[in-house]
Amino acid sequence: MSLKITVIGTGYLGATHAAAMAELGFEVLGLDVVPEKIAMLERGETPMYEPGLEELLRRHVAGLEGSTGRLRFTTDWAEIGAFGDVHFVCVNTPQKHGEYACDMSYVDSAIASLAPHLRGPALVVGKSTVPVGSAERLAAYLAEHSPAGGDAELAWNPEFLREGFAVEDTLHPDRIVVGVRGERAEKLLREVYATPVGEGTPFVVTDFPTAELVKTAANSFLATKISFINAMAEVCEAGGGDVAKLAEAIGHDDRIGSKFLRAGIGFGGGCLPKDIRAFMARAGELGADQALTFLREIDSINMRRRGQMVEMAREALGGGSFLGKRVAVLGATFKPDSDDVRDSPALNVAGQIHLQGGQVTVYDPKGMDNARRVFPTLGYAETALDAVRGADVVLHLTEWREFRELDPAELGAAAAARVLLDGRNTLDPELWRRAGWRYRAMGRPTA
Ligand code: UDX
Repeated sequence: MSLKITVIGTGYLGATHAAAMAELGFEVLGLDVVPEKIAMLERGETPMYEPGLEELLRRHVAGLEGSTGRLRFTTDWAEIGAFGDVHFVCVNTPQKHGEYACDMSYVDSAIASLAPHLRGPALVVGKSTVPVGSAERLAAYLAEHSPAGGDAELAWNPEFLREGFAVEDTLHPDRIVVGVRGERAEKLLREVYATPVGEGTPFVVTDFPTAELVKTAANSFLATKISFINAMAEVCEAGGGDVAKLAEAIGHDDRIGSKFLRAGIGFGGGCLPKDIRAFMARAGELGADQALTFLREIDSINMRRRGQMVEMAREALGGGSFLGKRVAVLGATFKPDSDDVRDSPALNVAGQIHLQGGQVTVYDPKGMDNARRVFPTLGYAETALDAVRGADVVLHLTEWREFRELDPAELGAAAAARVLLDGRNTLDPELWRRAGWRYRAMGRPTA
C-alpha cells in the first residue's frame, strides 16, 4: 500500500511540496490554518506567482476537472493526524522582529497542534529552515505529547528550492538530505523519494544537527559568493576593472564555479538575509559566534550595495538632491520569476530615492500588487515604457527577461534623458549604448 502524506503549511514550500508529492503518485492532504489559502488551493490557484505550480495543482487537486484527485486540503488537525503516515512540516521561520534570531513559533505551534492527533506509528518530517538543535527538542516534545509516544518519530529533511524554480527544484532536486535517528525513518523517506533517487539524485543520510546545518551552511555559502563578487565590484570601481569579466574569468576555475557571481545590488528575499542572521544568532547562543563573524561582513557588504546604487543614481543626475528628478525603476521583486518583494533590494533602492524627494515610478512584471501593498506612496506604471516616460534616469534593479528584451530606441524616445544604471549587470551595454544611452553598471568601466 502506498504511503499517505500530509503537508502542514501551504506557503511557497508547502504548496509546492504537496503538489510535487501528488505528482510522484502519493495521496496527499495539505493543511493550513488560513482558510482563505485553502479555498484558493482547492480552486487550483496559488496565493503567489510561481511558474508551473498552478498547472501542477490543477493536475492533482481533488474536484477539479480531469485531475487525479490525489491532492486534498483541510484546516482540521484531527483529519491530518488520522490520514498520514508521513507528515511534512513546511511552515515558515521568519526573522524575529528587531532581532537576528529566527521565529520558531510557527514550527512549535504546528508540532503542538499535530502531536495529540498522532495515535499510531507516524513520521513527522521537518522541512523548515531552523536553528541547529531544534529537531532534537521537537523529537522529545513529540514523544512526550503524542498518544503514539515513541512511535511518533521525527526526521529533518531541509529544502533547497529556489523561488521561480520551486516546482523544478522539488521534482528534480540536486540532493536530498535527511537527518534521522533510526532505520524506520530512513526507510520511509527512501520510499517517499524513490523516484528522484531512482533518477540519480544523491540521498545523504545524516544526524539531526548536520541536516539542520546543511541548509544554513548552503545559504551562507551562496550569500558569501554574492557578497564576495560585490566586494570585488567595489574594488573594480575604485581601480578601473570590470567585475563581469573578472567573474567570468575566475568562474572558469572549476573549484570556484561560475554561478552566483553576478555583481549588482545584492541579495534579498525571504531566505538568504534572514538565514545568515539567524545562523549568527544561533552560533552566539552556542558560544561559537567567532566562527561566523565573517557573516556579519557578508551582510553588511550586501546592505551597502543598496546605498551605493542610490549614490550612483544621484551622481548620474549631476549630484545633489533628488528633488524634482524623475527616476524610473525597472523591477520591484527580489528576483525575477517571482512576485515576492520581501527584503527586495530593488524596492529598497526605489524607496530610499523616493524618501529623498525623487519622483519614482516603478514597473515590475509580476510584483506590482505586492509592491503597492508594501510601499503605497511610490509611483507605479503599467508598463516599462510608461515608467520610463519623462525619466531623467532609468534604474534596472531586477533582472527580468522582459527587461533584456526591451527596445532601447523606443525607451530612449520616451525618456527625458538616456541614462541607464544597470543594478543587475544583465543588460547588454553595447545594445543600449548604440541606441544613444549612457549605460553604467556596478563594478564596470563607464564607457
Ligand atoms: C535561496 C537559495 O538559493 C535556496 O537554495 C534556498 O532554498 C532559499 O534561498 P531564493 O531566495 O529563491 O533561494 O533566491 P536565490 O536564487 O538564491 O537568489 C537570492 C538573491 O540573490 C536574489 O535577490 C538574487 O537576485 C541575488 N543574486 C543571486 C545575486 O545578486 N547575484 C547572483 O549571482 C545570484
